[in-house]
Amino acid sequence: MFSKLFCLFLASSILLIKEAQSFLEGDFYEVPVWTWIGGAKTRNETSVFNGDETLPQNEEYPGARAGSAIWSDGKGDVWMFGGEGFDVTEAKNQADPSLPFFPANGDATYLLNSLWKFDALKRTWRAIHKSGNYSDIPTARHHATACGIRNKFLLIYGGLGYNFQAYSDLWMFDFQDSLWKRIDFAQRNSSFPEARGDPSSWCTGEELWIFGGLRGNSEVLSDFWVLSLTSLTWSQLNVTVDMVERDQTVSISHKSGAATWTVDGKYLYMFGGNVMQNYQHYRHLAKGLTSDLWQYSTESGLWSFVTGFTETRHPGEYGILGQMSSLNNPGCREHGASWVDNDGNLWLFGGEGTATKTIGFYTLTHLLADLWMFDVSAGMWTWMGGFNTEDPDVFYGIKGKQDVSISPGPRCESVVWYFNYTAYLFGGLGHDHNDNDGWLNDLWIMNMMNSSSDSLLFLGTEEMPLSPVKAFLMTLGIIVGVSILFVFATWGKKCCNLPRHKPSAKSPAGFDVKYSPLSDDTEFTIMSTPMKDIPSF
Ligand SMILES: *[C@@H]1O[C@H](CO)[C@@H](O)[C@H](O)[C@H]1NC(C)=O
Ligand SMILES: *[C@@H]1O[C@H](CO)[C@@H](O)[C@H](O)[C@H]1NC(C)=O
Repeated sequence: MFSKLFCLFLASSILLIKEAQSFLEGDFYEVPVWTWIGGAKTRNETSVFNGDETLPQNEEYPGARAGSAIWSDGKGDVWMFGGEGFDVTEAKNQADPSLPFFPANGDATYLLNSLWKFDALKRTWRAIHKSGNYSDIPTARHHATACGIRNKFLLIYGGLGYNFQAYSDLWMFDFQDSLWKRIDFAQRNSSFPEARGDPSSWCTGEELWIFGGLRGNSEVLSDFWVLSLTSLTWSQLNVTVDMVERDQTVSISHKSGAATWTVDGKYLYMFGGNVMQNYQHYRHLAKGLTSDLWQYSTESGLWSFVTGFTETRHPGEYGILGQMSSLNNPGCREHGASWVDNDGNLWLFGGEGTATKTIGFYTLTHLLADLWMFDVSAGMWTWMGGFNTEDPDVFYGIKGKQDVSISPGPRCESVVWYFNYTAYLFGGLGHDHNDNDGWLNDLWIMNMMNSSSDSLLFLGTEEMPLSPVKAFLMTLGIIVGVSILFVFATWGKKCCNLPRHKPSAKSPAGFDVKYSPLSDDTEFTIMSTPMKDIPSF
C-alpha cells in the first residue's frame, strides 16, 4: 500500500518535472483530447439496419469491422466499403464453415461488401446497401482502396477476398443512380496493375496513386501506379529515389500496410508497413515491420527518404509527451490510422507493431494506442498522446463526453477521416473495454481546432504561457520530486519504470486473436492458416 502510494507520488512528481523540463526547452504541444461518440465499447457488434423508412436515419450504425476502404469527399460525405467483421446477424449463419476463418464456436467473422455513408455534418451513418452475394456489387473483401470525385462517384480498387484471393478490379459507385459499375480495362485496351490488397494509396483530387501491396497472402509488391479519375486509365510510374537530397544508402522497399498521407495534393507520404515476403496477414508477426518515412513529390516525380528506420523491428523513441525532437520516432508498425490536419501535419494513431519493446523475428505484433504527429516543415516527430506501451488498457469514459484521460484502445486496421478540424476514428481490430480482442465499431473524435481552450491542440513553436498555477505546481513538483528521488534513490528502481498501464495477463478461452503471449499462437494458427483443400471463393 505504502509503496504504491509512493510510486504514485513519485510518478506524478516526475511527470511534473518532465513538464517543467519541456517548458524550459520550448517547442511543445498541448496534447489533444479524444471523445467516444458512437458505437459499442464491446467487440463483435453487428450492424443496426433500419428497414423502416419512417425511423430516423441516425438509428443505422455499422457493425464491427477492420480493414475497410474509406473515402471522404472533404465536404462531409464519407464512404466506407467492405472490411472484415460483422454486418448482419443472418450473414453469420451464412458464412461457409469450410472457410479458414470460421471459428469452432460458431461465431464467424466474414468479409463484407456493404456500403456505408457517414454524414459528418449530422454525424449519422446510413447503410447504402448490405453485404451479400450479388453479382452487381463488388465481392466481399478487405484492404481494398477507395477514392472518388465529389458528387460524382466513389471508386473501389482491388483488395483481398477469401483465401487471400487478390483482386485487380475497379468499381465505380455512381452517386447519380446509386449503382455499381465495373470498369472493364480489357475493353478499354488499357494496362492495369496486377491484383493486390493493402497497397499504400493516396487520393490527390483527380488521381489515385498506389504503391506496392500484397499479392495474395505472401508476396509483397513494390510497383507504383497512378489512376486518372477523369479518364479512368492507369499508368505505371518509375520508382526513382532522390539520391542528392538524402542518405544515398537508403532504398525504397516492397511494402504493404503502410500509413499514408497526402499533403497539399502534391506530396505523398508513407510510413512503416511490412517489407518482408512470405507475409501472412493472420499471423500478425512482427518480422517485416519498419518505421521509415518516405515522401513522393508529384511535381518532381522523385521519392525521398525523410526519416526513420528501414531495417525491421525497430522500437519507438517517444521522448517527452508533447515535445518535438529529432530523436523521436514511432516504433515499427503496420495498419496504423493516419490523417492530415489543417496545417499539413501528419498524424498517426496505433497500428500493430511495437512501442518500446525489442521484438524478435517471430514475435507477434502488439497492438498500439499511441498518437504521433510529424511536422513536415520541421521534419520531426512528436508523441502527442496515448500510451507508449504495448497493448494498454482502453478507457472509454462516458459517450459524448470529452475527458483528458480518455484514449481509444489499442487497435489496427481502423479507418480514419478528417473533417472540419476534427479527426474521426472508427473501429478496427483491437481491445474492447473488457480488454478482449475483437472487431470494433466504436467511433471517436479528436477536435484539432487551434483554440485558446487548454483542452485543445496548441499549434506553433512559441512557448506556452505559464499560468501561475502551473508555475506553482511545477516548482512544487521539482522540489517534491527531487527530494523523493533523493530519499528513494536506492529503492525506487522498479518504481521508476512508470508502468502507465499494466500489461494484461488474461488469456480467455476461445478463439480470440491474441497478440501478447506467443504460446497462444498455436491455437490462433489453427484457425487462421488457410487450408489447402478449400475451393477459392
Ligand atoms: C469475436 O469475434 C471473433 C472472431 O469471430 C471470435 O473468435 C470471438 O469468439 C468473438 N467474441 C465474441 C464475444 O463474440
Ligand atoms: C465546423 O465546426 C464548427 C465548430 O464546431 C461549427 O460551428 C461549424 O458549423 C462546422 N462547420 C461545418 C461546415 O460543419
